[in-house]
Amino acid sequence: MLANASKTFFHLLARSDLLKRAASRYGMRSPTAFARRFIAGETVEEAIAAARAIESRGLLHTLDFLGESVSSLSEAEAATRDYLRVADAVTQAGIIRNLSLKLTQLGLDVDRASAVDNLRKILERAEGFFIRIDMESSAYTQVTLDIFEMLWGQGYRNIGIVLQADLYRTEADEERIAALGARVRLVKGAYRESKTVAYQKKADVDAAYARLVKRLLERGHYPAIATHDINMINIAREHASALRLGADSFEFQMLYGIRRDLQGSLVRDGYRVRVYVPFGRQWFPYFMRRLGERPANLGFVLRGIASEGR
Ligand code: FDA
Repeated sequence: MLANASKTFFHLLARSDLLKRAASRYGMRSPTAFARRFIAGETVEEAIAAARAIESRGLLHTLDFLGESVSSLSEAEAATRDYLRVADAVTQAGIIRNLSLKLTQLGLDVDRASAVDNLRKILERAEGFFIRIDMESSAYTQVTLDIFEMLWGQGYRNIGIVLQADLYRTEADEERIAALGARVRLVKGAYRESKTVAYQKKADVDAAYARLVKRLLERGHYPAIATHDINMINIAREHASALRLGADSFEFQMLYGIRRDLQGSLVRDGYRVRVYVPFGRQWFPYFMRRLGERPANLGFVLRGIASEGR
């Protein structure tokens, strides 16, 4: 099956203003709201409550204040202020200090230097935090890695990057990041990509993921194995045990609302598992990517909309 076919469909839906309006009307505002399965809420208080519940299950978390592709410097500055507020609230709450963010949320499409300044403000304020820079579509891979390497070169050590197994270039990128000594989160890749840059078939993406995860375990620095795919998880477990790696030298990561059963069973087996907790009002593009990964989710959404209409 073409991994990209459903991504394409939901990418088109994500651009529909009508759908976006309907989603923001029904998606989060009632107890049956369908987006709530994947998004912890609209406010930082809701995210902190979700994070506390995750910690009480013995899991770790990273909070993502949703937003991307801002088109003006004032929006980028507002997003930066929001992140600073989130960092303060997390510190006050006394929960694990780990955030994920996107460079286009901080203004990368508008002005690269301003996006870097915004990121620096967050890195400097967020003392004791680990900040993961999410990877966006392949149009941003090079610039994201360039910015990451520049900040690493300037001595920032509380940052990590994401690499996507579906891109052909990732094997080379993985080597560069391993040579730096920086932390990688390995994902399959959530964006619709062309065959000039990315594998199109799920089997090819999975084979690339399996190769990359083994290398990361061999040479990486506290890699984050971010997948819900039990086959990939088993490959990682077997390879880590062949290498005699302790369960504290890597972690698994999964998205909020997906495979809670597997999250729990890995923790019971002694592994570290971090849950990616998205929250905020700008949830629609994130939500559409989750639908694109698993079209069966659409049934869940349609049932939600039908029950809202009653
Ligand atoms: P795969 O898609 O093969 O799914 C394996 C199984 O997991 C499915 O059979 C199903 O049981 C379950 N599953 C997967 N997705 C589901 C969904 N949406 N709803 C319900 N069940 C689902 N991508 C990116 O491009 N840049 C990034 O920065 C990140 N960041 C990130 C952080 C974390 C912590 C995770 C887990 C993932 C990301 N991703 C990402 C997303 C990633 O690229 C990928 O799209 C999803 O993880 C789905 O791929 P899987 O590896 O789970 O495999």
